[in-house]
Amino acid sequence: MNIERLPPIVTSLQPSNHPYLNGAWTPLHEEVNAEGLEVIEGAIPTDIDGVYLRNTENQIHQPLGRYHPFDGDGMICQIDFHGGRADYRNRFVRTRGFAAEQEAGGSLWGGLADPVSLARRPGFGAHGALKDSSSTDVVVHAGRGLSTFYQCGEGYRFDPLTLETQGVEGWVPIDGISAHAKVDEATGELMFFNYSKHAPFMHYGLVDPDNRLVTYQPIPLPGPRLPHDMAFTEHYAVLNDLPMFWDAALLKRDIHAVRLHEGLASRFAILPRRGGDVRWFEGAPTYVLHWLNAYETGDEVVLDGYFQEEPMPPPRADAPPGFGAMMAYLDEASFRPKLHRWRFNLGDGSTREERLDDRTMEFGVINPRHAGRAYRYAWSTVSKPGWFLFTGWIKNDLITGESWTWDLSPGRYGSEAPFAPRRGGTGEDDGYLVSFVTDENTGRSECILLDAARIQDGPVCRIALPHKLCSGTHAFWAERAQVTERRAVALG
Ligand SMILES: [Fe+2]
Repeated sequence: MNIERLPPIVTSLQPSNHPYLNGAWTPLHEEVNAEGLEVIEGAIPTDIDGVYLRNTENQIHQPLGRYHPFDGDGMICQIDFHGGRADYRNRFVRTRGFAAEQEAGGSLWGGLADPVSLARRPGFGAHGALKDSSSTDVVVHAGRGLSTFYQCGEGYRFDPLTLETQGVEGWVPIDGISAHAKVDEATGELMFFNYSKHAPFMHYGLVDPDNRLVTYQPIPLPGPRLPHDMAFTEHYAVLNDLPMFWDAALLKRDIHAVRLHEGLASRFAILPRRGGDVRWFEGAPTYVLHWLNAYETGDEVVLDGYFQEEPMPPPRADAPPGFGAMMAYLDEASFRPKLHRWRFNLGDGSTREERLDDRTMEFGVINPRHAGRAYRYAWSTVSKPGWFLFTGWIKNDLITGESWTWDLSPGRYGSEAPFAPRRGGTGEDDGYLVSFVTDENTGRSECILLDAARIQDGPVCRIALPHKLCSGTHAFWAERAQVTERRAVALG
């Protein structure tokens, strides 16, 4: 393995006892290029060709206040599979905030858990006093990477092969773009939403395969909301207005305190993908971080996602002093997301709901060729109780009800594992799940490939990475053609 280390970035982070700045969540600051990765077990298949891109928070500077793991600086880690070989590289996203703090040598913004008065510069997005670290999500659209921030940031484009940041995406509106923009591989279109503290409080947009914004319309809401994800079908976009959001009275005093609003239903907006009239549907109160997929069948739009049984969990009593509330909100065993189906009847406006699996799971993936269309298989992650750490996967057959599981051994933690179709494959589960794994037993990291058809057999391949990665979340698989075509599109 050849490793090229880049010049070090400026850091000011000091050791602390913060549970999400230690162990598997220890931030990584080193940036490298590594060619010819060493295989630990198995062999790299020759029928996988593309790049796995994972975004994750890696805090660079000493926090001004109380660090929350969603505050860290965005870093893209990439593994590139080609011809039975694999290369790796990682880069911080060169955001305006990254550049300003590199120049200052320290933090200029407080975090999600801090008073807005801590910010030393104007902030970004819905919250308004946070750094846009572009650290939440990543997709590839129009041949280029796009990293996004959950509080609605500017959206940064980067080369998905070299990871060079190419600047702020030109079509992103003044209210920004939320994490979880959706790419429809069948059409090459990208759909997105944003939210804010001023009317109309939410917008929806569509960008065409040539990276032109062709739809941008208001989705009027009764007040500021905190949607995290959206879904789409072949003809519709699906947005949400869920009853967990900032307390309006406290918000007038610039205090951002989330609460569950008793008596409010969950609301779902369905509108034509290229814009038009919005139809609203109601459902049982909950909060949903992530949707799995949506599709049309007969008069119905079917939406699958992870229904939280307890969106506002009590603080975890076993957390270190002062961290109980934060750790509960990051702990799936506390908020208990369950795979759930909503059926919205476009004929009579009714909603039907059903539970698809009673086990706690989240962060699901599907074969992207079935996104927005009828599908059969879902692969969700399982977390370590008490922690935002992925310990295994559950595969659900949504037609037969069968399921299969595979767990990492103790002390080993995965990341979101998107489905990489096998070259030449035709079956819906004919491909691989790709994940980075951080091993607290050895202090090293690796990449694993699971056979998506038989996850219960364990990895078909384990590949050593050149340094220990911070545990991470959202990731994207891009096939070779997705990162080599349409690369001449100019930034707006
Ligand atoms: Fe997310």
